[in-house]
Amino acid sequence: MGLMESIRNTRWLSALFGLLIAAAPSSGEDAGIFDEYRAMFGDDNPAIFVIDEGEEYWLEPQGPKNTSLEDCDLGLGPGVVEGAYARLPRYFADVDKVMDVEARLIFCMGELQGRPSAEIEGYPYSMRGDLGTEIEALVAWLADQSSGMPIAPGQEHVKEREFFTLGEQLFYYRAGPHDFSCATCHGQQDKRIRLQSLPDLTSHEGAAASYSAWPAYRISEGIVRTMGWRMRDCFRQQRFPLLGVGSDVTVALQTYLAVTAAGAPMMAPGLKR
Ligand code: HEC
Repeated sequence: MGLMESIRNTRWLSALFGLLIAAAPSSGEDAGIFDEYRAMFGDDNPAIFVIDEGEEYWLEPQGPKNTSLEDCDLGLGPGVVEGAYARLPRYFADVDKVMDVEARLIFCMGELQGRPSAEIEGYPYSMRGDLGTEIEALVAWLADQSSGMPIAPGQEHVKEREFFTLGEQLFYYRAGPHDFSCATCHGQQDKRIRLQSLPDLTSHEGAAASYSAWPAYRISEGIVRTMGWRMRDCFRQQRFPLLGVGSDVTVALQTYLAVTAAGAPMMAPGLKR
């Protein structure tokens, strides 16, 4: 039986990972353990199941209007999904706003399906123990539709450039009880917190390696997490208030990362700790 077949409904790999970590010496060998663990998967990524689910959500009529998302315009025209993720965040004239994939999906769910945005905004990401949300599945599928394509967020419109500048300012903005900014943890090379190595997201290499791999299947949680979730969770680590899905702040931060990563090929969904 293949490894993948046994993964679908089990969490045993997470448990195994926990054991590997527990057994590992607390030195620099930890990172090697994760590499070995990742190698066990080879080219397999359990996210493939979530990708399929995302496509099903896209095609499924839902909401008061009983419509699918097939006419959703992600920036390349209604219904065009190939390559759309790699061009986000970008400016959308119909709302006069810069949006990331999540903001745009929530907009389409409202416009096309008649679903109240509060319904999705209140519960965009899985809680501990959940098996994944619609947003997570849709984002996994859409990112896969950009696999191999260069990261190329919009920077032509003045608002797109404003969002890059805002994102950069936010990245260096120190506040909260610990006076942390994103740069405190992500502004230097070879930094680590416990097991996790912290990428230098201010360099093209660091941003590219990170941005291209999200959304990602998180082994420790057994679910796909999106870049929007990553922003929210780092905001939390920074002791900042809850970061709204699709909010200007999350879109600006992602614009900063995407522009810094621009040119590198998308390789999502990735595989993370
Ligand atoms: C207190 C330290 C800390 C702060 C402040 C912080 N992060 Fe993080 N960040 C982490 C840690 C730790 C991880 C790795 C988490 C993991 O592996 O589970 C991480 C992971 C990430 C990743 C994913 C890296 C990868 O592996 O691809 C991104 C992107 C990111 N952070 C962006 C940000 C942004 C943007 C901010 C500011 C809003 C921020 N972080 C603030 C600690 C921090």
